[in-house]
Amino acid sequence: MGVAIDLKGRRILIVGASSGVGRSTALAVAAHGGQIAVVGRRAAQLDEVVAAAGGGVAIQADLTDADACARVVETATTALGGLDAVLLPVGVSPLQVMTGLTAETWFQAFATNVVGPALVTAAAVKARVEPGLFLFVSSANVAQPLHGLGAYGATKAALEHTIRTWRMEHPEHRFLKLTIGATMPTEIHRDFRDDVLGELLPRWAGTGIVTADFMEVGDVGAAVAELVAVALDHPKIAVDDVVLNPAAAPLDEAALNRLAELAAAGEHLDADGQPKV
Ligand SMILES: NC(=O)c1ccc[n+]([C@@H]2O[C@H](COP(=O)([O-])OP(=O)(O)OC[C@H]3O[C@@H](n4cnc5c(N)ncnc54)[C@H](OP(=O)(O)O)[C@@H]3O)[C@@H](O)[C@H]2O)c1
Repeated sequence: MGVAIDLKGRRILIVGASSGVGRSTALAVAAHGGQIAVVGRRAAQLDEVVAAAGGGVAIQADLTDADACARVVETATTALGGLDAVLLPVGVSPLQVMTGLTAETWFQAFATNVVGPALVTAAAVKARVEPGLFLFVSSANVAQPLHGLGAYGATKAALEHTIRTWRMEHPEHRFLKLTIGATMPTEIHRDFRDDVLGELLPRWAGTGIVTADFMEVGDVGAAVAELVAVALDHPKIAVDDVVLNPAAAPLDEAALNRLAELAAAGEHLDADGQPKV
């Protein structure tokens, strides 16, 4: 299923495409005829994405390296003969209470989630003369702080500020903020520790953030590709803010407590490393 869209001839750079939402978006873009350049630190995963997509350019790069951010844009532009859209579904999400966060974790989170996307966008804005489309991925965590996700939420709040500033300074381009809710399976929680999660989950009760069901990552990738196609087909319309959330009710306190017990016992994640909800 999916909306009938056509991305033939569209040249799309996807930063953070070695797993999760970025990977599934890259596959959906390619399935609709788009040309893709995919970026991440893990070369083997990028090669897998290009193989699964039936073509594309893999660019191994670490966004915390400023030179790499410029190189990503240059390499993708040269390889694809230009860029029609730059998608940034990139991010890391430390899970730690404020008193437990190290300076290194803070720096890594801001470098990956805020500074890297800003430097990639700056390089692309400077390199192009024609209007462009940029898509950033934010989180409900900006509006709803959660115990243990203070650093993550702070980076996304900062990211949102950069988006608003990009729009002011460069009205000739379009900067789309896509806020997504819980999406699985992805690797965003790869660094979550079971014991920390077990302590924190009960504290998320009443926030409405943890829902009884998640969005499926392939479904989200398809929706993002469709959204990009709509935006590219309507260049005079600024598609500013889009929110994709699970169509499911929030978990109640008892269910969260049960999840917390599973997490504390090291049984919250299944064999694929995904939460058992
Ligand atoms: N999944 C959710 O429930 C959810 C909810 C709200 C918002 N989001 C947002 O959605 C976006 C995608 O997340 P996801 O869930 O798909 O997680 P994911 O599977 O972990 O994907 C994150 C991507 O970012 C890349 N990345 C991380 N650090 C990088 C670095 N230093 N340099 C280059 N690439 C880097 C990763 O590749 P490498 O590790 O290979 O570098 C990976 O391709 C993120 O912005 C996240 O904050 C996700």
